[in-house]
Amino acid sequence: MVVGSIKTVIIGAGGMLGTDLCKVFPNAVQLTRKELDITKRDEVIQKIEKIGPDVVINAAAYTDVDGCEDNEDLAFAVNGYGPGYIAEACSNIGAKMVHFSTDYVFDGSKGEYSEEDEPDPINVYGKSKFMGERKIIENLNDYLIIRISWLFGPNGNNFVENMLRLSEEMDTVKVVNDQFGKPTYTVDLARKTKEIIGIGPGIYHITNEGVCSWYEFASEIIDNVVPCTSGEFPRRAKRPEYSVLKNTKTSPMRHWKEALNDYLKERKT
Ligand SMILES: NC(=O)c1ccc[n+]([C@@H]2O[C@H](COP(=O)([O-])OP(=O)(O)OC[C@H]3O[C@@H](n4cnc5c(N)ncnc54)[C@H](OP(=O)(O)O)[C@@H]3O)[C@@H](O)[C@H]2O)c1
Repeated sequence: MVVGSIKTVIIGAGGMLGTDLCKVFPNAVQLTRKELDITKRDEVIQKIEKIGPDVVINAAAYTDVDGCEDNEDLAFAVNGYGPGYIAEACSNIGAKMVHFSTDYVFDGSKGEYSEEDEPDPINVYGKSKFMGERKIIENLNDYLIIRISWLFGPNGNNFVENMLRLSEEMDTVKVVNDQFGKPTYTVDLARKTKEIIGIGPGIYHITNEGVCSWYEFASEIIDNVVPCTSGEFPRRAKRPEYSVLKNTKTSPMRHWKEALNDYLKERKT
């Protein structure tokens, strides 16, 4: 596939990942939530059919993991049914769909998860994202479902920014040391998405390399951090303990520490 010559639509263009995708696909038609609400089936289908793209990239989601526990209907509408409507539209016009899912579709009890492992989500966000995956697979043959984890990037509220802010506000910042994952830089992920867009349909696991706990991640960002357990820091949504995505299908991206260094340098300039 010659990426430059294909017509691309990016949905969720105003989000953290969406903004970086727009930079690597500068000719794409960019749709923010104001321009397309993916919970509205008729509008989704009409809009996509009218634009007539070759590829639709969906970066829209309801990403507040704790908020999903209190707003189940909204979570399933945006993360479950919405991707299904996009897939329907893509199927009608023969377009490919690229969609982002999450490590939180797994329960975190197994160790590393490959693309073939069966999801078993333990919170509403994970359940709604898993529903989105199934709706796409039911409606469309030509899809890339890219599972990603622990995103940080220049265009959204993220863990790195939260740590930097808390470090200024508090003497010591407590961060959980019993949940593990793979931090992933949205700039790297957006570039990788462009690189792999022509590969065959299926589920892919794409993250920066390296596994750490939230505490270990925080320790690379700030100095005044101490470890704690999840029990000391209760949240609305249960989190998987070890939701580590294993990539068995594409070439690896660089280590998250290297990506984090670039991010920290960039935000200063
Ligand atoms: N962030 C992470 O750590 C992480 C981890 C794993 C997977 N993911 C997945 O990665 C993708 C991108 O995440 P992100 O962190 O970039 O999310 P984000 O910054 O929260 O962006 C999501 C975007 O979706 C939009 N949106 C929400 N509801 C919508 C609707 N009904 N119709 C159209 N647009 C809607 C939001 O608009 P408003 O701002 O107006 O609400 C926002 O611009 C998502 O699929 C997410 O599930 C993220």
